[in-house]
Amino acid sequence: MLELLETAFGMGWPLLVLLAGVLLYCQVRIADPAVRRRATFKTFIGMLAVALLLIAVANYKLNFFGNSRLLPISLVLITTATFVTALYFARVSAMFKIGGFMFLVAAALSGFGNWLPQVEGGFPPPPVSDLKGYSIMPTQKLADEGENILFGGVGLSRVQGSVGKGQCPLCHGFYEGSLSERAPNLLGIPERAQKRLADPRYRKGSPGERDTVQKESFPGAGTAETAEEYIAESHVCPSCYVVRDFGDKGTNDRVSGMPMIHKPPISLTLGELAAVDTWLFVREGKEPPPYEEIVKAYEKFIPKSELVVDGNQEPADVPFGTIVSGKEPVDQIFAKAKCVLCHTIPGIAGAVGTVGPKLVEKTNAPIRLKDPAYRGNAKTVRDYIAESIIVPGAYVAKSFPDNVMPRDFGDKLSAGALTKIVEYLSQLEEGKAPPKM
Ligand code: HEC
Ligand code: HEC
Repeated sequence: MLELLETAFGMGWPLLVLLAGVLLYCQVRIADPAVRRRATFKTFIGMLAVALLLIAVANYKLNFFGNSRLLPISLVLITTATFVTALYFARVSAMFKIGGFMFLVAAALSGFGNWLPQVEGGFPPPPVSDLKGYSIMPTQKLADEGENILFGGVGLSRVQGSVGKGQCPLCHGFYEGSLSERAPNLLGIPERAQKRLADPRYRKGSPGERDTVQKESFPGAGTAETAEEYIAESHVCPSCYVVRDFGDKGTNDRVSGMPMIHKPPISLTLGELAAVDTWLFVREGKEPPPYEEIVKAYEKFIPKSELVVDGNQEPADVPFGTIVSGKEPVDQIFAKAKCVLCHTIPGIAGAVGTVGPKLVEKTNAPIRLKDPAYRGNAKTVRDYIAESIIVPGAYVAKSFPDNVMPRDFGDKLSAGALTKIVEYLSQLEEGKAPPKM
């Protein structure tokens, strides 16, 4: 009973001690022994009634949203309390007895009603760890959310150049014939995932034998067993298994250039990851795994300490299409414009991308300008950098793919932002420390 009071009112003992104290005080003040004896009896009855009422209220409060079948117990307790009080106030006892009887009838009726089959009253609320409600969305709605995260809006998946918070289309094509030079085309991934598990290079069940720089997502994580687990592992540990010919140059497919998408700068939450995967299945007319199964697959490969659940993530990341004003410090410009996903930029935290060249332009630019294959218009290091950003096709750095660097930075970067970028990159030299910001 103490526990019940504790959970319902936030205090147990203090409540009872207070009551007992008040009642005892009233008795001690009575001088006549006969009157005091009667008073003691009444005190006892009174405390019993109050205790019953408190338990009744506590039970009601605790079980109102839980096991509603326990609620009639409260009514029975109130009935008992009423009868007990009838002893106390002898003169009006008839009234209390009638009242008590009515409570008894009410208890019987509601008890009977509660034991009848329960009707589901709408959807249960989502858990607090999922404020956006991904866990309870109907499948099509969840898939729409996925399309929004991938492409920046529902229905945008077929619109060229649409890139959402997930940044995936920067590197991946999603439809037949779409450009996907630097990363596998993700068409057919649900089925292909199954085949990847059978690839001897995948080493299903024996991660230790993998010939990659990172053999497991974290020690003890193991390898994927199902298609969904393969997709989850690809997303959070790209270097655990690297698709043939899509690894970073010169690493013999031992390192992946794909960023871990549950970490900055992309930072998808568990719910968002589930939405993306659901879209990958649904858009091909395939039955997606249930939400819980997708979440389990991710929990297998993301260590507990790194799990980002909806509701406690950092403020929403700026979507790719956002114009960078140029008022931001240069490291934020690189992060906002997502240069960091594809380029390693000395001195910029988190800029460890490997899809494009390391941007040591004080070293690189003069080499490019001297290359007989250079057909651009730049004459200086600064001009070369600006040209590379605004017209990436003007000169394609050797051994890097064309058409991967986005073509629309000219529209998305303000003149101020471009100036800051050029200023910073033009000072970077191979083998030298980056300038202080
Ligand atoms: C910076 C470029 C880049 C970005 C951004 C990127 N990826 Fe990748 N992704 C790659 C590369 C390169 C590979 C191939 C190497 C490997 O196996 O990891 C790959 C592999 C994959 C694979 C395995 C494909 C297969 O055929 O087995 C999946 C699935 C995938 N990416 C999904 C995504 C999703 C979803 C996103 C966005 C949330 C994303 N990627 C963002 C570069 C990228
Ligand atoms: C999706 C990947 C991707 C993103 C995002 C990206 N780049 Fe690139 N970038 C590349 C690739 C690949 C190349 C090499 C091919 C070429 O020259 O076009 C390149 C080339 C360059 C070059 C020429 C480098 C050299 O040494 O010749 C510069 C400068 C550059 N990028 C700057 C930027 C800046 C600044 C941003 C952000 C505003 C950015 N890039 C965003 C992929 C990317």
